[in-house]
Amino acid sequence: MNFQHIPVLVEEVMVLLRCEPGKTYVDATLGGGGHALEILKRTAPDGIVIGVEWDEDAIIEAKKVLMPFGERVEIFRENFIDLPDLLRTMKIESVDGILLDLGLSSLQLEKAERGFSLKGEGPLDMRMDQRITYTAADLVNHLSQKELADTLFECGEERWARRIAKAIVRERDRVPIRTTQTLRRIVHHVIPRRFHPRRIDAATKTFQAFRIRVNSELENLREILETGWRLLKKGGRMCVISFHSLEDRMVKETFKRLERGGADFPGPGGMVCIITKKPVTPSEEERRRNPRSRSAKLRCAERV
Ligand SMILES: C[S@@+](CC[C@H](N)C(=O)[O-])C[C@H]1O[C@@H](n2cnc3c(N)ncnc32)[C@H](O)[C@@H]1O
Repeated sequence: MNFQHIPVLVEEVMVLLRCEPGKTYVDATLGGGGHALEILKRTAPDGIVIGVEWDEDAIIEAKKVLMPFGERVEIFRENFIDLPDLLRTMKIESVDGILLDLGLSSLQLEKAERGFSLKGEGPLDMRMDQRITYTAADLVNHLSQKELADTLFECGEERWARRIAKAIVRERDRVPIRTTQTLRRIVHHVIPRRFHPRRIDAATKTFQAFRIRVNSELENLREILETGWRLLKKGGRMCVISFHSLEDRMVKETFKRLERGGADFPGPGGMVCIITKKPVTPSEEERRRNPRSRSAKLRCAERV
């Protein structure tokens, strides 16, 4: 089956990145190429997009979508934390903008065999990059009860973390936990019915926690936020779209620290100026058209 990913906050990102001909942008989370496509259109005839993505399936989709732009786009299968090395190898000192559109693409979420979905039955995989050497099943079946609880609490902000961890251990002592629906059932059973949220599945936070842990999402985000601004030209901008509070908090706090400057940074003042004092969120119309956009928050900072 073919799934399409609808890019979020496209117009807002284009305005904040000030897309113009002749400029060079990095789309560090290329996905199906939705944002990159729009950047390429707006920077015609000579703007360049360097696309970074670590999921093999997404790269195949992006290549199809972006093929008409020929040499104006270069795509790399890399972790975005390796962007500094990548640009060095390309002999590019700095770029005009960097986009990070975090979270999952619909291509990943809606394919049950990738193991991200709460709906279909699938293996507990959850690797965005198929080269990662362990899966969610490995974590679920091998972390200690305390490590499970910490993961659920720190990466999922799950208030039932300890009880869920205990139930996972009890279940896997009987038989290894291998599928998404088995994990979902365990969580549903543990959380008392009256505490099941109305709008989202009761296992959403558990799935989020294991996904974040499998893909080292918070560590990767922290690293690119710390190094990314150095890759921008003066006046160049970084836009980050996040989908949950752990990410958004990290973006907000790192931007603030970079703006303040201080002992960590050379020279007086900060290294960036925050452009979005409050996060930009999707319009009512976009939320209706694309429900996945509902939790999106966009923040932007400019290198000074
Ligand atoms: C929300 S999707 C991006 C969708 C894209 N903006 C579009 O319009 O089609 C996020 C993508 O980032 C990728 N990704 C997440 N972390 C990454 C990392 N550390 N390095 C490279 N790609 C990453 C995921 O595999 C996923 O395809």
